[in-house]
Amino acid sequence: MITKITHIGIAVGSLEERLAFWAQALGMELAGIESVASEKVKVAMLPAGSSRIELLEPISEDSAVAKHLAKRGEGIHHLAFEVADIEQAVERLERMGVAPVGEAPRAGAEGKRVAFLHPRDTGGVLVELVEGETAGGRDETEITAGSVVLLYLRDPQEKLWGLLHRLDPSGVVIEGIDLASFDDWISQVEKDEESVVGPSVLFLPMARIEKVMLDRPSGNIPSLAERFERRTGRKVAEVLNRGE
Ligand code: CO
Repeated sequence: MITKITHIGIAVGSLEERLAFWAQALGMELAGIESVASEKVKVAMLPAGSSRIELLEPISEDSAVAKHLAKRGEGIHHLAFEVADIEQAVERLERMGVAPVGEAPRAGAEGKRVAFLHPRDTGGVLVELVEGETAGGRDETEITAGSVVLLYLRDPQEKLWGLLHRLDPSGVVIEGIDLASFDDWISQVEKDEESVVGPSVLFLPMARIEKVMLDRPSGNIPSLAERFERRTGRKVAEVLNRGE
């Protein structure tokens, strides 16, 4: 049933503060930041081989991680195991008298389906089950310098699109443009007009980052980079990347 440990979730008061240890001192790679609405947490992902460490900072007082912090302080919050078929796994557990907590399965990080088992049923360990990749599907969720990304910000809310220059504990450096200006920018490049709107190199502090996502096609909808390239006939990479 279990195929691997996918991640170890660690509750932290502040991602920025704890990334100073995990990413900077220990030297783990920071491969993504994501807010998970269902758990009310902001997650920093640090790969370690085929598993990873997930640092969890609550984004709401009533999140389970906020309660964990209040009661037990920072530290290991849960262990997550990959299963091939989550419905089957939940069914089996229910037959064995172990009922998952809350709605199961539900949407977790990266849109994967997850279920949680209560520590009282497991001897003190909060266990998460995560449905694995579909057969043959490679995990292409890795975000690195040079990735074209969407950046969701808060306080105030904003969405940016652009080329990721750097993702580190202090925040994100992106050569990007506000999504609201994206189409104006395309028209401008298309007509070869003088630039009125355009991408610039920006630093966004960790506290403002809600989520960093790869700019990817979804079903029939092309990615924004594809939209740009189709309309202008130019490559995103030749238009951007002036910053470094
Ligand atoms: Co988890």
